[in-house]
Amino acid sequence: MTTESIADQDEIDAKNAAFWDELCGSQLAQQIGISDDSPASLKKFDDWYFDFYPYLYRHIPFARMKTKRVLEVGLGYGTVSQKIAESGAHYHGLDIAAGPVGMAAHRCRLIGANDAIVQQGSILNPPFDDDTFDWVVAIGCLHHTGNLPDAIKAVEKLLKPGGQAMIMVYSAASYRQFASEPIRTSMRKLGSGMRAYSAPAGDEDERVAYDANLKGAAAPQTEFVTKSELRQLCKGFSDIQIRAENIGAEGILRFVPRPFLNRWVGPRFGLDLYCSLVK
Ligand SMILES: C[S@@+](CC[C@H](N)C(=O)[O-])C[C@H]1O[C@@H](n2cnc3c(N)ncnc32)[C@H](O)[C@@H]1O
Repeated sequence: MTTESIADQDEIDAKNAAFWDELCGSQLAQQIGISDDSPASLKKFDDWYFDFYPYLYRHIPFARMKTKRVLEVGLGYGTVSQKIAESGAHYHGLDIAAGPVGMAAHRCRLIGANDAIVQQGSILNPPFDDDTFDWVVAIGCLHHTGNLPDAIKAVEKLLKPGGQAMIMVYSAASYRQFASEPIRTSMRKLGSGMRAYSAPAGDEDERVAYDANLKGAAAPQTEFVTKSELRQLCKGFSDIQIRAENIGAEGILRFVPRPFLNRWVGPRFGLDLYCSLVK
């Protein structure tokens, strides 16, 4: 890395630490009437979360994490953090912002997960030795770091040989992308197997549709990838399985039953790519 790119990355990290200090999911919490972090309020939030994203139970095999060393990267409101810690895993949480670190630590205390370790820091410069974890889980995080290729490499390094990762990143070829930019999206999808990934970042209008804070501002950095680009970025792993999921609730979609969307539309044109990896 050049001195200039280190300075650029420092600036992105600072923006991310400030933006994500407000917990991701705060808009939802407000909509469903949650204003504190009591066990009852957190349960209400988590019930909504797993109800809206039911396939998470399939993609994150919580029961198989028991006794394993698990690192979660990008903690947000801490729903997945709590589930991993409750599974009996040796839970480690890492997030660039103080707010999510405080929330995950609070949840671990509430459930008596006394050996859990939750730290503030970046996956691009992780405070762990290589070959440390049996599992790494990063849902909706790596595409916000400002350097998706290096974030994926960092995940690979942190895993023990044979270790597994579940990462979720945003698709560059979802129904939303096809609807807003049909030609650009089709060209990207067609060409994506043929050229190297060049970290194209979304513009403000695009980013705000995915992650906005309570004031309506977009996340500072968001990258989008096609399945072929993601395969290329994960080529250091011995096994890669990718499945699209998640159709939002905008416009007419809110009138379509979710089980139908999840079953038939999500896997073809979903917003998110769930990528299961073995080192
Ligand atoms: C969209 S939220 C996802 C949170 C949670 N996994 C979920 O699905 O609700 C993204 C999270 O990634 C964190 N994050 C962003 N850049 C990061 C980095 N370089 N290292 C670690 N965490 C980062 C943010 O602070 C934020 O908590």
